[in-house]
Amino acid sequence: MQTLTSFTDKTRHYFELEEEFGAHNYHPLPVVLTRGQGVYVWDVDGKKYFDYLSGYSALNQGHSHPKILSSLIEQVQKLSLTSRAFYNDQLGEYAEFICKYFGYDKVLPMNTGVEAVETAIKLCRRWGYAVKGIPTDKAKIVVCENNFHGRTSTVISFSTDPSAYKDFGPYMSGFEIIPYNDTDALARVLQDKNVAGFLVEPIQGEAGVVVPDDGYLKKVKQYCSDARVLMIGDEIQTGLCRTGKLLACDYEDVRPDILILGKALSGGTLPVSAVLADDEIMLTIKPGEHGSTYGGNPLACKVAITSLSVLKDEQMAENAFLQGEYFRTEINKLQSPHIKLIRGKGLLNAVVIQHQNPDAAWDLCLSLKDHGLLAKPTHGDKIRFAPPLIINKAQVAESAEIIKESLKSLD
Ligand SMILES: Cc1ncc(COP(=O)(O)O)c(C=O)c1O
Repeated sequence: MQTLTSFTDKTRHYFELEEEFGAHNYHPLPVVLTRGQGVYVWDVDGKKYFDYLSGYSALNQGHSHPKILSSLIEQVQKLSLTSRAFYNDQLGEYAEFICKYFGYDKVLPMNTGVEAVETAIKLCRRWGYAVKGIPTDKAKIVVCENNFHGRTSTVISFSTDPSAYKDFGPYMSGFEIIPYNDTDALARVLQDKNVAGFLVEPIQGEAGVVVPDDGYLKKVKQYCSDARVLMIGDEIQTGLCRTGKLLACDYEDVRPDILILGKALSGGTLPVSAVLADDEIMLTIKPGEHGSTYGGNPLACKVAITSLSVLKDEQMAENAFLQGEYFRTEINKLQSPHIKLIRGKGLLNAVVIQHQNPDAAWDLCLSLKDHGLLAKPTHGDKIRFAPPLIINKAQVAESAEIIKESLKSLD
């Protein structure tokens, strides 16, 4: 890491505060942000950057989207929280809106992404017992190697990344891990009649934007249907236009039985997540059996409607598709010896760095930062490039130029 002396006193002050009083559960890039607008963020010293992380894809609509902000401000001044002890005049409208938007019977609203994953797991198990007839406590959920579905005790129980699970046991049982992108392994594990669901990311984002073979998702859905197993699509990162379609599953016309959404559902303003499913599944959970104080709060509902609306109104899927193709073309044109490959769909991309220095990806991110572009390494040698979906061609070209210049630091 750079020595702290290369930063201003102001910047150092914020580093030191977090270091002293915040838990050390993250390793941030050394930059202190204070403002965001569209595809840009500014640090406390006034330097401007392209945001190529987009809050881990929560800011698909860009920072401070005016329509999302208006909804937020209007609603927060009226009514922000009722809890689900009472009805409110936003939840019903939101529920109808999101169900019709994605084509499901019902929605169960939660807050963070991992809570929605937890909800989907409970829902799937309950369906397994109530509908499929799996004997009590025998339900299994199949997951993939190198998955990332969040950080709760249950979810890390089926992580294959030691930094996520090590020394956090004992772990929750009832999960089977198979390789990603391996339909033969799926077919084998589905022979077990106690399997209730298969939880899968259409593209493994945190693992380094691992794109499965064409046809994988279609086969997954087919195999699951044949075995009477629920396909649970975690589109928390890939959904909401990030990959160039509304959902990444849309590339193969696949409709998961349970769909999990989060992140950009609020355009980066507050934690809003959702689980969507049809009645046969959703109505297995009865009053009092699941919930959350903030889940379905009127503020979140209002903001989510606007966040979903602007995705369509401003054709963000189409733009993500076009700018993503352009970005990958421009990066390939660089023909840098330090870039092993670039992969991704739409504006969810990762560059795999090749260099004798194992910290090269981190060092490149520092150089990118100095040149005015923020991105973060994932899994050592990969850097994710995922700007807000409102980025235009000139901005992508400028970003590619920044990446070209920054790569020189690795020579
Ligand atoms: C695919 C996927 N699932 C779940 C999560 C967890 O979401 P959250 O951090 O909001 O709990 C993430 C977060 O990165 C994710 O990428």
